[in-house]
Amino acid sequence: MNAKIAVLAGDGVGREIVPEAVKILKAVAQKYHHTFEFVPGDIGGQAIDKVGVPLPQETLALAKQSDAVLLGAVGGPKWEGLEYSLRPERALLGIREALGLYANLRPAKVYANLVDASTLKREVVEGIDVLVVRELTGGIYFGKPKGIEKLPNGEERGVNTEVYTTDEVRRIAKVAFEAARKRRKKVTSVDKANVLESSELWRKVVIDAHKSYPDVELSHIYVDNAAMQLVRNPRQFDVLLCNNMFGDILSDEAAMLTGSIGMLPSASIGAKVGLFEPIHGSAPDIAGKNIANPIATIASAAMMLSYAFQLDKEAEAIEQAIVKTLDLGYRTKDIQSPGARIVGTTEMGDAILRNLN
Ligand code: IPM
Ligand code: MG
Repeated sequence: MNAKIAVLAGDGVGREIVPEAVKILKAVAQKYHHTFEFVPGDIGGQAIDKVGVPLPQETLALAKQSDAVLLGAVGGPKWEGLEYSLRPERALLGIREALGLYANLRPAKVYANLVDASTLKREVVEGIDVLVVRELTGGIYFGKPKGIEKLPNGEERGVNTEVYTTDEVRRIAKVAFEAARKRRKKVTSVDKANVLESSELWRKVVIDAHKSYPDVELSHIYVDNAAMQLVRNPRQFDVLLCNNMFGDILSDEAAMLTGSIGMLPSASIGAKVGLFEPIHGSAPDIAGKNIANPIATIASAAMMLSYAFQLDKEAEAIEQAIVKTLDLGYRTKDIQSPGARIVGTTEMGDAILRNLN
């Protein structure tokens, strides 16, 4: 097939890990006779430095004309002082909204030989296979009113609004139920329905949407309990259906169970063009040292092949290459273990490339 892929490396380690994923995608194209065109674009802090805004119009246009977007990470201390609307993070929210990417899929799976890299005990994390389905274009991230206002008494007041409509909940619930059908057929919907009205509606709509999926088991859990259960007994979960903010928080927690946040990919889908990115950030503290783990981004490229292009065989080949590379003992620093072969970002990419069949 022919596909045009927008490549937005962004900031920090994004600039190191994205080229590794592109390297793998090029090899896949060659081996399986596809033509992928890679078109780079600016996003985040480096876009601010170049043209003054975190999400330039050209980048958005490029994304919209592409078949998929591969993204690295945005942000860093250099841009932290900027006002909110100009921060690198705004670019992420902006591109999610502009592309209508309402569903974010974050699979947290523990690789057998990385079990000991987790900060949790082997008995707890062995066999974890959770999919966080996070609503991505609604809730408190986008709700209005929002902002910081001055009060007459000189104090300030910061406001954000958690808001969901029936439609927004129904469409993300469907994504979770469909995903569960291809897995262990269990959806746990996360909310705070004991306190928040928006959660009360969320739960009601999820129960209603579930009527079309009688083969899928549905349960509900309060977010605080979900955070606790994730470290107590994570294997009980199959698909975790979350609103935007709960999904943001719980997906970081789920990621860490698997050993390193440097391992977890994500797919954001919705209207037309999908966006694929590691769930970790720009990690300014380790950027530029060739030590970042490129696996989350390479696995995101695999998700792109399967979700955006239906190239399941090719996606599987990338996953197998990752497993084989880990089996051979290659480790970046974040997942190091005694006796392992510690390699840098590019060496890890090269090793995965060599193991690609
Ligand atoms: C994520 C990140 C982003 C989010 C930030 C960087 C805007 O934490 O993708 O999980 O909160 O969605
Ligand atoms: Mg996050």
